[in-house]
Amino acid sequence: MENFDGKVVLITGAGGGLGRETAFAFGKAGATLSLADVNAESLAETVAQLRSMGCAEPLFAVIDLDTRDACQQLVSDTVQRCGGLDVLCNVAGILNVSHMANVTEAQWQKIIAVNLSAPFWLCQAAIPHLLERQGNIVNVASSGAFVGESYLVPYTATKAGLVQMTKSMAMEFIKTGIRINAVAPGGMNTPMGNPDAFPKDLDMELVQQFIPVRPPAEPAMVADLILYVASDRAANIHGACLLSDGGHTAG
Ligand SMILES: NC(=O)c1ccc[n+]([C@@H]2O[C@H](COP(=O)([O-])OP(=O)(O)OC[C@H]3O[C@@H](n4cnc5c(N)ncnc54)[C@H](O)[C@@H]3O)[C@@H](O)[C@H]2O)c1
Repeated sequence: MENFDGKVVLITGAGGGLGRETAFAFGKAGATLSLADVNAESLAETVAQLRSMGCAEPLFAVIDLDTRDACQQLVSDTVQRCGGLDVLCNVAGILNVSHMANVTEAQWQKIIAVNLSAPFWLCQAAIPHLLERQGNIVNVASSGAFVGESYLVPYTATKAGLVQMTKSMAMEFIKTGIRINAVAPGGMNTPMGNPDAFPKDLDMELVQQFIPVRPPAEPAMVADLILYVASDRAANIHGACLLSDGGHTAG
């Protein structure tokens, strides 16, 4: 069992499937939590469940992380109110499933802002504080960063960018004690991973190619990996992207 007593952990997307399970995992491990999500209702549900589990009262912020200002504000509020920062988990993300020809400029800008720019601005703001406490970052990418996936062109581009961003940041800070890693889930049992929600005008033969053979993972399985990567037991893991995809990208 990992121990995060006395550690401050900031988790974005904490109202969603994986972000909520990540909050539960760190909460159970004794962390002081700072949680953020754009969805007030689902974030409140995460907070209510943490309380019922007997975890310490988390700091939480309903915030749209699609600007640099919002990201900087979130980090500075966390540090001010929690006294520092030990772990940043960039979990928030959005999906766009559509024919490439139908992607609008607004959709492209939004997915880049949330999936790629926000993690960058959050890392930039967090790193000075992580350096003070020898902390670490876990970015949530996707198995889609490693294989081509029809109808997911903007999404997979952001996730591949996030993997490379993770590696380059890891190299830039390799002389320090902080660690910067990514975790890449495959399909998970969350609303985002539900193919029933995909548009109906897609070539299902192509869709089938990015639906994993094995059943989707429960988000708690991926949250456990995030917890491990952020823990001292993973002290030698830096600049890595660890897949948890049920073998989806193996063949
Ligand atoms: N579900 C899957 O099959 C799957 C597979 C691979 C990777 N992922 C990645 O895992 C992460 C979590 O996904 P999930 O399945 O839990 O999805 P989810 O939709 O359940 O959760 C994502 C959360 O991010 C929040 N969010 C979205 N835009 C935001 C913004 N602008 N500011 C703040 N919060 C915002 C949402 O409100 C939501 O609560 C994402 O980065 C996703 O890309 C998911």
